[in-house]
Amino acid sequence: MTKPYVFITRKLPKDTLLALDGFVDVEMWPYEEEPVPREKLLEEANKADGLLTMLSDRIDEELLNQAPHLKVVANMAVGYDNIDVGAATKRGIAVCNTPDVLSDTTADLTFALLMATARRIVEASQYIRDGHWKNWAPLLLAGTDIHHKTIGIIGMGRIGEAVAKRAAGFDMEILYHNRTRKLEAEKRLGATYVSFQDVIAKSDYIVCLAPLTNETKGMFDAEAFKQMKSTAIFINASRGDVVDEQALYEALDNGAIQAAGLDVFKHEPIGADHPLLTLPNVVAIPHIGSASLETRLEMAKLASRNIRNILQSKGPEAIVNHDVLK
Ligand code: NAP
Ligand code: GLV
Ligand code: GLV
Repeated sequence: MTKPYVFITRKLPKDTLLALDGFVDVEMWPYEEEPVPREKLLEEANKADGLLTMLSDRIDEELLNQAPHLKVVANMAVGYDNIDVGAATKRGIAVCNTPDVLSDTTADLTFALLMATARRIVEASQYIRDGHWKNWAPLLLAGTDIHHKTIGIIGMGRIGEAVAKRAAGFDMEILYHNRTRKLEAEKRLGATYVSFQDVIAKSDYIVCLAPLTNETKGMFDAEAFKQMKSTAIFINASRGDVVDEQALYEALDNGAIQAAGLDVFKHEPIGADHPLLTLPNVVAIPHIGSASLETRLEMAKLASRNIRNILQSKGPEAIVNHDVLK
């Protein structure tokens, strides 16, 4: 009998793929930094029983229509907005992701981004490297306090809660908004549930960790930035498309808000000429929320276990569209 065929869309360390050893034939795109071209991805999807994908791969209806053997798409990410889950479900294809293993790491980065933005760490580092540090001065590179301020978390899920836990250690007041209230988490974290409007109007730090969906797309628009405090700092660690980037640019440029820390952008990767990078009050990093070596290896291992479990008809560790298992 021929073995199932799995295509991996980016070069991953061999020992993260042990779960696939023996029972499948595996091919891997041989580059770590360069994504697989669309044509090659379509060609591979046409042959594959399983795909191990990155968030930069678009898994849409066009691709699924040309994938007659496909049983599982395992994204090496917790977010899965790059995958047309509805179209996959219709075809009985499992969509898997990598929750939990990256929550603490992403929360660490989100809080680091918040701190770097508030305390102007990147600007200060550049200042010294540029040879500008001539004297100590009372207000030199003075930033904004973090402790005892109010943080507002939009999307209090696994990562949002881990950010709230860190914020509690900084004696922050914690507001949050989800579509559903989480009473147990409120007690455990000392967080208060309020409306989206109240989060954005009352918080000193507004942190987005909600997934990109039709509902959240563009939720941070000109109107939202207008409702924020002029001292507000906006942190986005979810997906770029939850923000109207033009409105954010204007809010930062005209002082409607104070600063922004961004790990994600509408069209990734962005070039050095991106308008937001011309603003001194923006800290921009290249989508590295979960990027610790330990966590990225765990994510790759979980993705390959997800593929094995689906192909061997075992319960997957993390599936997005449970309906396909019925
Ligand atoms: P999660 O546990 O599913 O949490 C998402 C939270 O967002 C849930 O509490 C959900 O609550 C809330 N939410 C969903 N729709 C909403 C809406 N319309 N308005 C307000 N809240 C809404 O997911 P997670 O593991 O924490 O990951 C969250 C997201 O972070 C991912 O989807 C991904 O986009 C992003 N992420 C980014 C990085 C990075 O590298 N920057 C790394 C990992 C993850 P309700 O369902 O009750 O609304
Ligand atoms: C990263 O952005 C993820 O969704 O895991
Ligand atoms: C600063 O370094 C201080 O001693 O206050």
